[in-house]
Amino acid sequence: MQITLSNIEKSFRDPSGSARRVIAGISADIAAGALVAVTGPSGAGKTTFFNLLSGLLLPDSGTITAGKTELTKLSERERDRWRAKEVGYIFQTFNLLGDLTIIDNVVLPHILIGSGAKGDLQKRAVESLTALGIGDHLHKYPHQLSVGQRQRVAVARALLASPRLIIADEPTANLDDASARIVADAILALRGRSTILLASHDGRFSAVKPDLTIALGGEAGHA
Ligand SMILES: Nc1ncnc2c1ncn2[C@@H]1O[C@H](COP(=O)(O)OP(=O)(O)O)[C@@H](O)[C@H]1O
Ligand SMILES: [Mg+2]
Repeated sequence: MQITLSNIEKSFRDPSGSARRVIAGISADIAAGALVAVTGPSGAGKTTFFNLLSGLLLPDSGTITAGKTELTKLSERERDRWRAKEVGYIFQTFNLLGDLTIIDNVVLPHILIGSGAKGDLQKRAVESLTALGIGDHLHKYPHQLSVGQRQRVAVARALLASPRLIIADEPTANLDDASARIVADAILALRGRSTILLASHDGRFSAVKPDLTIALGGEAGHA
Protein backbone atom coordinates (compact mmCIF):
# COMPACT_ATOMS: atom_id res chain seq x y z
CA MET A 1 0.00 0.00 0.00
CA GLN A 2 1.36 3.37 -1.05
CA ILE A 3 1.05 6.07 1.63
CA THR A 4 1.39 9.82 1.27
CA LEU A 5 1.72 12.06 4.30
CA SER A 6 1.31 15.74 3.67
CA ASN A 7 2.43 18.07 6.44
CA ILE A 8 0.77 16.23 9.31
CA GLU A 9 0.78 17.82 12.74
CA LYS A 10 -0.44 16.60 16.10
CA SER A 11 -0.32 18.31 19.47
CA PHE A 12 -1.41 17.16 22.91
CA ARG A 13 -2.19 19.28 25.94
CA ASP A 14 0.10 18.62 28.84
CA PRO A 15 -1.25 18.74 32.44
CA SER A 16 -0.51 22.48 32.68
CA GLY A 17 -2.83 23.00 29.70
CA SER A 18 -0.26 24.14 27.17
CA ALA A 19 -0.12 22.34 23.84
CA ARG A 20 2.94 20.27 23.03
CA ARG A 21 3.54 19.55 19.38
CA VAL A 22 4.47 15.87 19.11
CA ILE A 23 4.26 15.47 15.33
CA ALA A 24 5.56 18.63 13.69
CA GLY A 25 4.78 18.88 10.00
CA ILE A 26 5.79 15.51 8.62
CA SER A 27 5.57 14.82 4.89
CA ALA A 28 6.61 11.56 3.27
CA ASP A 29 5.97 9.33 0.28
CA ILE A 30 6.04 5.71 1.26
CA ALA A 31 6.16 3.24 -1.61
CA ALA A 32 4.06 0.08 -1.57
CA GLY A 33 6.02 -2.75 0.02
CA ALA A 34 8.59 -0.45 1.60
CA LEU A 35 10.20 -1.10 4.96
CA VAL A 36 10.10 2.15 6.92
CA ALA A 37 12.07 2.62 10.12
CA VAL A 38 10.47 5.10 12.51
CA THR A 39 13.14 6.31 14.91
CA GLY A 40 13.39 8.62 17.89
CA PRO A 41 13.91 8.43 21.64
CA SER A 42 11.16 7.49 24.06
CA GLY A 43 8.51 10.22 24.01
CA ALA A 44 9.45 11.35 20.48
CA GLY A 45 6.00 10.47 19.12
CA LYS A 46 6.49 7.07 17.49
CA THR A 47 3.32 5.54 18.91
CA THR A 48 1.38 8.73 18.13
CA PHE A 49 2.64 8.56 14.55
CA PHE A 50 1.48 4.95 14.24
CA ASN A 51 -1.90 5.82 15.72
CA LEU A 52 -2.28 8.54 13.07
CA LEU A 53 -1.28 6.20 10.24
CA SER A 54 -3.68 3.52 11.40
CA GLY A 55 -6.55 5.99 11.74
CA LEU A 56 -6.85 5.57 15.51
CA LEU A 57 -6.12 9.30 15.81
CA LEU A 58 -6.66 12.19 13.41
CA PRO A 59 -3.97 14.83 12.88
CA ASP A 60 -4.75 18.45 13.78
CA SER A 61 -3.81 19.37 10.22
CA GLY A 62 -2.39 17.75 7.12
CA THR A 63 -3.58 14.77 5.11
CA ILE A 64 -2.86 11.05 5.05
CA THR A 65 -3.65 9.10 1.89
CA ALA A 66 -3.29 5.32 1.96
CA GLY A 67 -3.76 3.62 -1.38
CA LYS A 68 -6.86 5.24 -2.84
CA THR A 69 -8.24 6.21 0.55
CA GLU A 70 -7.85 9.65 2.03
CA LEU A 71 -7.85 8.56 5.64
CA THR A 72 -8.14 12.06 7.04
CA LYS A 73 -11.51 12.52 5.29
CA LEU A 74 -13.15 9.45 6.83
CA SER A 75 -15.37 9.28 9.88
CA GLU A 76 -14.16 7.35 12.93
CA ARG A 77 -16.39 4.43 11.99
CA GLU A 78 -15.05 4.37 8.44
CA ARG A 79 -11.47 4.54 9.75
CA ASP A 80 -12.15 1.62 12.11
CA ARG A 81 -13.43 -0.44 9.21
CA TRP A 82 -10.51 0.57 7.01
CA ARG A 83 -8.02 -0.36 9.75
CA ALA A 84 -9.65 -3.74 10.35
CA LYS A 85 -9.34 -4.59 6.66
CA GLU A 86 -6.00 -3.09 5.75
CA VAL A 87 -3.78 -2.81 8.81
CA GLY A 88 -2.00 -5.41 10.91
CA TYR A 89 -1.07 -3.47 14.04
CA ILE A 90 1.37 -5.20 16.38
CA PHE A 91 1.11 -3.25 19.61
CA GLN A 92 3.90 -2.99 22.11
CA THR A 93 1.46 -4.29 24.72
CA PHE A 94 -0.15 -7.07 22.61
CA ASN A 95 -3.82 -6.19 23.41
CA LEU A 96 -4.97 -9.82 23.50
CA LEU A 97 -8.45 -10.54 24.85
CA GLY A 98 -8.08 -12.39 28.15
CA ASP A 99 -11.28 -14.41 28.00
CA LEU A 100 -10.71 -15.75 24.49
CA THR A 101 -8.50 -18.73 23.72
CA ILE A 102 -5.35 -18.26 21.66
CA ILE A 103 -6.92 -19.50 18.43
CA ASP A 104 -10.01 -17.33 18.97
CA ASN A 105 -7.86 -14.27 19.64
CA VAL A 106 -6.26 -14.77 16.23
CA VAL A 107 -9.33 -15.71 14.20
CA LEU A 108 -12.40 -13.97 15.68
CA PRO A 109 -11.49 -10.37 14.83
CA HIS A 110 -11.11 -11.40 11.19
CA ILE A 111 -14.36 -13.37 11.14
CA LEU A 112 -16.20 -10.38 12.64
CA ILE A 113 -15.18 -8.09 9.81
CA GLY A 114 -15.68 -10.76 7.16
CA SER A 115 -12.13 -10.94 5.86
CA GLY A 116 -12.53 -14.54 4.73
CA ALA A 117 -14.34 -17.85 5.16
CA LYS A 118 -14.24 -19.10 8.74
CA GLY A 119 -12.75 -22.51 7.90
CA ASP A 120 -10.04 -20.94 5.78
CA LEU A 121 -9.11 -18.37 8.42
CA GLN A 122 -9.05 -21.09 11.07
CA LYS A 123 -6.74 -23.24 8.96
CA ARG A 124 -4.37 -20.37 8.26
CA ALA A 125 -4.33 -19.41 11.94
CA VAL A 126 -3.32 -22.92 12.98
CA GLU A 127 -0.56 -22.93 10.35
CA SER A 128 0.68 -19.52 11.42
CA LEU A 129 0.62 -20.29 15.15
CA THR A 130 2.42 -23.57 14.48
CA ALA A 131 5.10 -21.79 12.43
CA LEU A 132 5.51 -19.32 15.29
CA GLY A 133 6.09 -22.21 17.71
CA ILE A 134 2.82 -22.06 19.67
CA GLY A 135 0.82 -24.72 17.87
CA ASP A 136 0.55 -26.69 21.12
CA HIS A 137 -1.24 -23.86 22.95
CA LEU A 138 -4.22 -23.15 20.69
CA HIS A 139 -6.88 -23.73 23.33
CA LYS A 140 -5.14 -22.06 26.23
CA TYR A 141 -5.83 -18.52 27.41
CA PRO A 142 -3.36 -15.63 27.17
CA HIS A 143 -2.51 -15.67 30.91
CA GLN A 144 -1.29 -19.27 30.55
CA LEU A 145 1.40 -18.21 28.05
CA SER A 146 4.72 -16.46 28.55
CA VAL A 147 5.15 -12.86 27.45
CA GLY A 148 7.11 -13.96 24.39
CA GLN A 149 4.44 -16.47 23.42
CA ARG A 150 1.72 -13.84 23.81
CA GLN A 151 3.50 -11.45 21.49
CA ARG A 152 3.73 -14.27 18.93
CA VAL A 153 -0.07 -14.68 19.17
CA ALA A 154 -0.44 -10.94 18.56
CA VAL A 155 1.79 -11.26 15.51
CA ALA A 156 -0.29 -14.15 14.14
CA ARG A 157 -3.45 -12.10 14.63
CA ALA A 158 -2.02 -9.00 12.98
CA LEU A 159 -0.69 -10.87 9.96
CA LEU A 160 -3.51 -13.39 9.40
CA ALA A 161 -5.42 -11.58 6.67
CA SER A 162 -2.31 -10.49 4.72
CA PRO A 163 -2.70 -6.78 5.59
CA ARG A 164 -1.36 -4.31 3.08
CA LEU A 165 0.06 -2.21 5.92
CA ILE A 166 1.91 -3.66 8.90
CA ILE A 167 2.64 -1.43 11.88
CA ALA A 168 5.07 -2.88 14.40
CA ASP A 169 5.55 -0.73 17.52
CA GLU A 170 8.61 -2.04 19.36
CA PRO A 171 7.39 -5.58 18.69
CA THR A 172 10.32 -7.35 20.33
CA ALA A 173 10.74 -5.13 23.40
CA ASN A 174 10.64 -7.32 26.53
CA LEU A 175 10.85 -10.58 24.63
CA ASP A 176 13.24 -13.44 25.31
CA ASP A 177 15.86 -13.98 22.65
CA ALA A 178 14.18 -16.91 20.88
CA SER A 179 10.79 -15.18 20.72
CA ALA A 180 12.36 -11.94 19.50
CA ARG A 181 14.11 -13.80 16.69
CA ILE A 182 10.86 -15.50 15.62
CA VAL A 183 8.84 -12.27 15.73
CA ALA A 184 11.49 -10.28 13.81
CA ASP A 185 11.72 -12.97 11.12
CA ALA A 186 7.93 -13.19 10.76
CA ILE A 187 7.68 -9.43 10.18
CA LEU A 188 10.66 -9.13 7.85
CA ALA A 189 9.44 -12.07 5.75
CA LEU A 190 6.60 -9.82 4.54
CA ARG A 191 8.89 -7.09 3.24
CA GLY A 192 7.97 -6.22 -0.35
CA ARG A 193 4.46 -7.68 -0.04
CA SER A 194 3.18 -5.41 2.71
CA THR A 195 4.26 -1.89 3.57
CA ILE A 196 5.96 -2.19 6.97
CA LEU A 197 6.33 0.62 9.49
CA LEU A 198 8.63 -0.39 12.30
CA ALA A 199 9.89 1.23 15.48
CA SER A 200 12.46 -0.85 17.29
CA HIS A 201 15.72 -0.59 19.17
CA ASP A 202 16.35 -4.28 18.57
CA GLY A 203 19.65 -4.96 16.81
CA ARG A 204 17.98 -7.80 14.90
CA PHE A 205 16.22 -5.15 12.83
CA SER A 206 19.12 -2.74 12.53
CA ALA A 207 20.97 -5.40 10.54
CA VAL A 208 18.36 -4.82 7.80
CA LYS A 209 18.53 -1.63 5.78
CA PRO A 210 15.16 0.17 5.60
CA ASP A 211 13.92 1.78 2.39
CA LEU A 212 13.10 4.96 4.29
CA THR A 213 13.77 6.32 7.78
CA ILE A 214 11.41 8.76 9.46
CA ALA A 215 13.17 10.37 12.40
CA LEU A 216 10.90 11.85 15.07
CA GLY A 217 11.64 14.06 18.02
CA GLY A 218 14.06 16.47 16.40
CA GLU A 219 11.63 19.30 15.80
CA ALA A 220 9.06 18.70 18.51
CA GLY A 221 8.45 21.68 20.71
CA HIS A 222 5.79 23.90 22.14
CA ALA A 223 3.06 24.66 19.65
N1 LIG B 1 -3.40 10.83 24.44
C1 LIG B 1 -2.40 11.63 24.85
N2 LIG B 1 -2.66 12.74 25.59
C2 LIG B 1 -1.67 13.56 25.96
N3 LIG B 1 -0.36 13.37 25.68
C3 LIG B 1 -0.04 12.28 24.95
C4 LIG B 1 -1.04 11.36 24.50
N4 LIG B 1 -0.42 10.38 23.79
C5 LIG B 1 0.89 10.67 23.81
N5 LIG B 1 1.13 11.82 24.50
C6 LIG B 1 2.43 12.47 24.70
O1 LIG B 1 3.04 12.59 23.41
C7 LIG B 1 4.43 12.36 23.49
C8 LIG B 1 4.83 11.26 22.54
O2 LIG B 1 4.32 10.01 23.02
P1 LIG B 1 4.46 8.67 22.19
O3 LIG B 1 3.85 8.87 20.86
O4 LIG B 1 3.90 7.58 23.03
O5 LIG B 1 6.05 8.54 22.04
P2 LIG B 1 6.98 7.26 21.79
O6 LIG B 1 6.12 6.15 21.29
O7 LIG B 1 8.00 7.72 20.80
O8 LIG B 1 7.63 6.93 23.10
C9 LIG B 1 4.74 12.05 24.96
O9 LIG B 1 5.15 13.24 25.57
C10 LIG B 1 3.40 11.60 25.48
O10 LIG B 1 3.30 11.87 26.85
MG1 LIG C 1 5.75 4.23 21.96
